[in-house]
Amino acid sequence: MEKKSILITGGAGFIGSHVVRLFVNKYPDYQIVNFDKLTYAGNLENLSDVDEKPNYTFVKGDILDEAFVEETFVKYSINSVIHLAAESHVDRSITNPLEFIQTNVIGTANLMNVARKCWGDDFSDKLFYHVSTDEVYGSLGETGYFTEETPYDPRSPYSSSKASSDHLVRAYFHTYNFPMVISNCSNNYGANQFPEKLIPLFINNIKEEKALPVYGKGDNIRDWLWVNDHADAIDVIFHNGKQGDTYNIGGNNEWQNIELIKFLCKIMDEKLGREEGSSEKLITYVKDRSGHDQRYAIDATKLKNDLGWSPSIKFEDGLENTVQWYLDNEDWLNNVTSGDYKKYYNRQYNAR
Ligand code: NAD
Ligand code: TYD
Repeated sequence: MEKKSILITGGAGFIGSHVVRLFVNKYPDYQIVNFDKLTYAGNLENLSDVDEKPNYTFVKGDILDEAFVEETFVKYSINSVIHLAAESHVDRSITNPLEFIQTNVIGTANLMNVARKCWGDDFSDKLFYHVSTDEVYGSLGETGYFTEETPYDPRSPYSSSKASSDHLVRAYFHTYNFPMVISNCSNNYGANQFPEKLIPLFINNIKEEKALPVYGKGDNIRDWLWVNDHADAIDVIFHNGKQGDTYNIGGNNEWQNIELIKFLCKIMDEKLGREEGSSEKLITYVKDRSGHDQRYAIDATKLKNDLGWSPSIKFEDGLENTVQWYLDNEDWLNNVTSGDYKKYYNRQYNAR
């Protein structure tokens, strides 16, 4: 069997950095190539603990740049891809949908085209793992769950672009026998998440005693999963998933936004030694997100029954641990919010 040489796209982002760390540390015999454009969401500081490891390489590049992707495939003899690079924030997709279509749809097709070109017809020991979201299934009412058979019904430019890429990946499997697997995961939370998403944004705002902008009535429901658990699930599916298949990944952990926010406020009051109830006073109801999906809820039975994976920690512990991480890593948060994190790249890589 060939030595594994894995291209992880989007490895400097939130989830990607946890996947890179897990693979670099757990599989010293694999070569891990982190391919990332370093958009506003990509931050190499997330990986400062692994960037000197011999089985790790960072390559700054754009998945839309077909020639450079091909050069990278050849240079590192890439035989697997874990594809996480994407534009990932729903609100940004409402403002700028084309960027999402470019990166998420065309970028994914580019990567697969290069993989087909470099791998030829010999797909033994090859895998293209496409990381996707539960948002492709649309919005649920009060009952029901998304299973792998739920028809796609994306309703935001972000989820539509991810749905489109999922369809393309499956089409390549059916048309070319392309060796792929897909997972669709629920909302992640944890260390290193860019503070535009609900949990890190609200942690930062509470810390700075700024308003907490709750969209609409705050009654939307999300299923939250600790990012380290998502990375573990990706490891399990990468190694044991069936080619051509899709796996839903979820936390069995539904929260109405306002309940989650109040719980977060309570933890923050305790951690910051503030009077009980003081963070809740920052809650401000604002205009709803357009097309705001009401409820997401994942049925992850297939992953549990077929591959034995289930989440490792309780949400209460994961959230507490996450809040602590943001409080302990004030520099990270300050660098990200000020844009200073780009200096890390210049220091670390331009000097080489
Ligand atoms: P993120 O926005 O934190 O990171 C995305 C990364 O992709 C960044 O490092 C960015 O620099 C890189 N990137 C963007 N465009 C690129 C391009 N053209 N070429 C190369 N790199 C590029 O995203 P995330 O939250 O870590 O999500 C990662 C993946 O997981 C995405 O595909 C997303 O759809 C999916 N996902 C996310 C969640 C979630 O809750 N965050 C849940 C389920 C699935
Ligand atoms: P978000 O973290 O953007 O993830 P997604 O939209 O992909 O689920 O938002 C999670 C939920 O929180 C979603 O219902 C929108 C809501 N939300 C707010 O109420 N206020 C905010 O400022 C943000 C960013 C999100």
